[in-house]
Amino acid sequence: MNPPVVKQRNNGVVPASTVGRGKVVTLDSLPVTNHWTNGAISLYHGDSLDFYGEWDSPATIVSDGAYGILGFEGDTSDHLGMPEWYQPHIEAWSSKATGQTTLWFWNSEIGWAAVHPVLERCGWRYVNANIWNKGLAHIAGNVNTAKIRRFPVVTEICVQYVFEPRIDGLTLQHWLYREWKRTGLPMKRANDACSVKDVAVRKYLDQGHLWYFPPPEMFAKMATYANEFGRAEGRPYFSLNGIAPGTAEDWAKMRSTFNCPMGTTNVWDRKPLKGSERVKVPEISGKAAHLNQKPLDLMKMIVSSSSNPSDVVWEPFGGLFSASVACRDIGRRAFAAEIDSTYFQLGLKRFYDPDLLI
Ligand SMILES: C[S@@+](CC[C@H](N)C(=O)[O-])C[C@H]1O[C@@H](n2cnc3c(N)ncnc32)[C@H](O)[C@@H]1O
Repeated sequence: MNPPVVKQRNNGVVPASTVGRGKVVTLDSLPVTNHWTNGAISLYHGDSLDFYGEWDSPATIVSDGAYGILGFEGDTSDHLGMPEWYQPHIEAWSSKATGQTTLWFWNSEIGWAAVHPVLERCGWRYVNANIWNKGLAHIAGNVNTAKIRRFPVVTEICVQYVFEPRIDGLTLQHWLYREWKRTGLPMKRANDACSVKDVAVRKYLDQGHLWYFPPPEMFAKMATYANEFGRAEGRPYFSLNGIAPGTAEDWAKMRSTFNCPMGTTNVWDRKPLKGSERVKVPEISGKAAHLNQKPLDLMKMIVSSSSNPSDVVWEPFGGLFSASVACRDIGRRAFAAEIDSTYFQLGLKRFYDPDLLI
């Protein structure tokens, strides 16, 4: 096969800043396949909207799409167009998500602010905003602050959401309370059910901000007690299938995985990608293939903290498929798509070209 012809844009100059960045190279070649899989990782060439329907339900979604900075062909020119851009994707994620799904939403601060209402409307509950601080290395002293009249931006954010499960249309917090009320038992008897002094009423059945998710064994205790002592005509209580009371195992599935690596906070000090970390275009030595490539270590951290081995991860805006590379390295299954033929070809190579095994 002849080497692909490479066209350069921007007169061959890579923009120094990430603002207004564009595509630097375009390969003339076509992908050897539009769908590659090794059984665990499945990479698709095309619009992710066309593929969600066939992907297995995800434990984790890593979204790194439009930033409102014309960062790739199809990105919007500012944050105002972003809610509309993301809406069909978010609706599709919601239709395949479960109570065990975590979403990591990479963006700029204003981009996230614009899209947050759409996420909330579609059932995603905000958990935490994490800051990737690239440090001074990101601007390398090249910013004229008198001209831009603001502090130089050296961050991106990665916001954690979980999919809020609902039972009978109610959030878990409201459903637990409703179920206990249905039993006709006084609230304080929930403490007896759980063999605790007052934590059941103060925490598991609280209707305000003090609520927290009962551990599965406590849920099972409440369910057993309610079905034994609650009004006979309302049974079953705390049932997730309408037939039998829910078990500890059923309840454990209503919550997403989260394991925090020791010493990690929501500020991730991590220099910008450099040198061999960056995927290069072999035909143009030294040229970074994709200016939005994310660090593999950060991808591994978010994927491993929100999923278990063999769980499914979605990467709908693949670029060079950094989240899928992370999945390969830490034993997760991945479904990913990239719409751009050049990026798809270069990203795919990370899975089989020994020179690009990064
Ligand atoms: C910010 S970049 C992702 C970079 C990636 N995280 C990495 O580390 O390489 C976003 C990518 O999404 C792609 N994209 C945009 N809309 C898409 C869609 N509807 N389906 C699939 N890919 C899309 C763009 O071509 C672009 O390469």
